[in-house]
Amino acid sequence: MGGDDDIVRFCPHRIVTTPIERVKWVSVGHNGRMDAKAMSGIERVGVVGCGLMGSGIAEVCARAGLDVLVREAGPEAAEAGRARLVSSLDRGVAATKLTEAERDAALARLNFTTDLADLSDRQLVIEAVVEDEQMKVDIFSELDRVLSADDAILASNTSSIPIMKLGTATGRPEQVIGIHFFNPVPVLRLVEVVTSLMTSETTLDRAEAFATGDLSKRVIRSQDRAGFVVNALLVPYLLSAIRMMESGFASAEDIDTGMVEGCSHPMGPLRLTDLIGLDTTLAVAESLYEEFKEPLYAPPPLLSRMVDAGLLGRKAGRGFYEYRR
Ligand code: 3HC
Repeated sequence: MGGDDDIVRFCPHRIVTTPIERVKWVSVGHNGRMDAKAMSGIERVGVVGCGLMGSGIAEVCARAGLDVLVREAGPEAAEAGRARLVSSLDRGVAATKLTEAERDAALARLNFTTDLADLSDRQLVIEAVVEDEQMKVDIFSELDRVLSADDAILASNTSSIPIMKLGTATGRPEQVIGIHFFNPVPVLRLVEVVTSLMTSETTLDRAEAFATGDLSKRVIRSQDRAGFVVNALLVPYLLSAIRMMESGFASAEDIDTGMVEGCSHPMGPLRLTDLIGLDTTLAVAESLYEEFKEPLYAPPPLLSRMVDAGLLGRKAGRGFYEYRR
């Protein structure tokens, strides 16, 4: 199994991952055989929210052969989400990442609804609405009422809201977990899997099997702390770049060029903030600040004012840069 870089370590029930080793998730099947890509048994997935992240999550699930039902708040939002998804699939075809037939098959597996109750037969639902705690709590509480399978998993793609708060909004916190994707979802391999104090081992195992086996993603685990691993490191860096620009230290272009050409990052921090969305960046910064009370997480005034002005980045046509729509 695996290539040279796959190191597998066992302990009786869990796989041990260490930061310095590259570990591939494996499971021991009932016959004792090792499966490098364990499957979760999940065939019907629901995605709540079809913005940047939700559409990407729905796309990778459909491309993986799963039946996907996307819930958006209204018909216009559903249509916009569908258009985003089609355009991303077309990009994938243009980039020869998938064939036209595979794109059409993925589209045929995707359906949309505006009624959360239609998700009742889903085995896994991934919530990907805006970073608004009350909105997420309401969705989890409603999902808990409508999902019929006793072992259905309720997951959130939140970047920053405690999984525990979402778990306690349901009667089954042991089946609530964070499955956090990265933008652009069809391109970036990482998924953070986040357990709350109440998440069961079974839910963790199935969520990891889903991400690695079904979606072919690379999983890292995080405790239930604001920002999890990646945003806790990334967001202070983005905020520092905004402060640097705000103070007149350097221009946006020079800050970005510095990190692209000097550190070989695929894009600079201000262009990346535009990609993530300034509203999302602000929400994550606020959650980090609320949790840790560290000045490095405090959102700079420029970020707040730009969000007030609707300059939300690429999705709005303007953030630190302008974009043709
Ligand atoms: N489907 C499949 N493949 C696609 C695709 C699609 N829809 N769109 C693009 N691709 C492929 C391209 O074919 C290309 O593949 P190749 O390298 O094999 O040729 C690759 O993806 C890169 O695409 P492009 O060539 O079109 O674009 P760039 O090379 O300019 O890269 C980028 C664009 C992928 C956005 C890159 O700049 C990048 O990785 N930037 C950093 C993004 C990042 O850090 N994201 C994390 C944000 S944090 C987050 O999401 C967490 C949240 O909680 C805040």
